[in-house]
Amino acid sequence: MHHASRLPRRSLDTTPWPGQDGLMDRILEPEYMDTQAEAQEYDAMDHVAANESVLARFLEIGGGRGRAVDLGTGPGHIPVLIARARPEARIVAVDAAQTMLDLARERVDQAGLADRITLQQANVRDLPFGDDSFDEVFSNSILHHIPDPLDFLREAWRVLEVDGGLVV
Ligand SMILES: C[S@@+](CC[C@H](N)C(=O)[O-])C[C@H]1O[C@@H](n2cnc3c(N)ncnc32)[C@H](O)[C@@H]1O
Repeated sequence: MHHASRLPRRSLDTTPWPGQDGLMDRILEPEYMDTQAEAQEYDAMDHVAANESVLARFLEIGGGRGRAVDLGTGPGHIPVLIARARPEARIVAVDAAQTMLDLARERVDQAGLADRITLQQANVRDLPFGDDSFDEVFSNSILHHIPDPLDFLREAWRVLEVDGGLVV
């Protein structure tokens, strides 16, 4: 399930809401997917439906007219989809795992999009970008790898323009 929003920064409310009892238990997965086998296995899986749904949400919020960042890009499927759909989009795709970034590099080069998609090794819990650096932040299927999701959300919110768009 993906949620899209375009909200002013001050409305990031991290207070637990009443009635959380019915939620599923959270099953944390290991954080980085940095072995060769993990990266290749993930890349080979069929993510088309999920990727298309991120693209759809991204377009729905009017994304892709400026600078965007993908947090935990893995093998880079989604930035390539977005860059193809939105020729003005410039995307920084971040992952901590070099093995994933190597796969993403191949995909981006093959798509001829190296001038608009920059790959960068970084930890999403401590991003090397200033406040308000991006018009959109998007991220798929990474929160279940992050021990405290607020570490991710605070950074995502910090690097996002005040009226920017967030797709998680
Ligand atoms: C399940 S994959 C999802 C990849 C991609 N977003 C997609 O939807 O195809 C999760 C990715 O997040 C990366 N990751 C996990 N924790 C991270 C962190 N703290 N900083 C940067 N990348 C992280 C992993 O290395 C992995 O590539």
